[in-house]
Amino acid sequence: MINLVNVNRHFKNGEETNHILKDINISIDTGEFIALMGPSGSGKSTLINILGFIDRGYTGQYLFNDENYQNVSDNKLAFVRNKTVGFVFQNFKLIQNNTIMENVSIPLLYSGMSSRERKQRVESVLRDVNIEDKKNLVPKKLSGGQQQRVAIARSIVNKPKFIIADEPTGALDSQTSKDIMDLFIRLNREQNTTMIIVTHDRKVAEQADRVIHILDGRVQREEVIE
Ligand SMILES: Nc1ncnc2c1ncn2[C@@H]1O[C@H](COP(=O)(O)OP(=O)(O)O)[C@@H](O)[C@H]1O
Ligand SMILES: [Mg+2]
Repeated sequence: MINLVNVNRHFKNGEETNHILKDINISIDTGEFIALMGPSGSGKSTLINILGFIDRGYTGQYLFNDENYQNVSDNKLAFVRNKTVGFVFQNFKLIQNNTIMENVSIPLLYSGMSSRERKQRVESVLRDVNIEDKKNLVPKKLSGGQQQRVAIARSIVNKPKFIIADEPTGALDSQTSKDIMDLFIRLNREQNTTMIIVTHDRKVAEQADRVIHILDGRVQREEVIE
């Protein structure tokens, strides 16, 4: 599904150019559960911005289902991003003035669904992540773990092909982290949603099928978890 071939990313910084990703070759199959590990500053977020169709200032090739989207229009790229990938972040990134229902509806606003269909779809994913009883509240009324469930609901509401989660358990206590990981594992198994999770936590990484270790902008090694 995902194929990166000799991907490099440079950033200009005044006079100098920093080489941040170096000859990245990664393949990810449909249904895989991948953990990305590496020290702070090693290039993990830069890499997932490329995978998530946010950044295309790279050289080399990114093929998604054999298609290259590097040179499409911004609109087309946004369309592809919206229907292909769900994002989950460490700090949830929910809209504070909107209810849980409204937050999870946002990715569906461009889907052409009627408001009734949208409501049904949102209620169904809120049930999937076990947070339906909070649907009329605003995010600050919820605990961190509950807010992350809402963010996960938002990430899956469009039935994406894969989910990118950048340190999704980084702000949560260990029991809540475990609950959130159990939820990702369930979504992966039941819906075959491909998962790419950035984590510093070895316990989290060990629940993946495969760990890709990034060091100084390179794939240092790949590790299959038994
Ligand atoms: N948009 C950007 N412009 C310039 N430098 C960047 C940009 N994004 C990331 N970098 C640099 O790339 C390096 C890797 O950053 P990042 O991918 O965020 O690492 P990680 O997520 O592994 O902590 C850092 O040195 C960072 O300063
Ligand atoms: Mg990062």
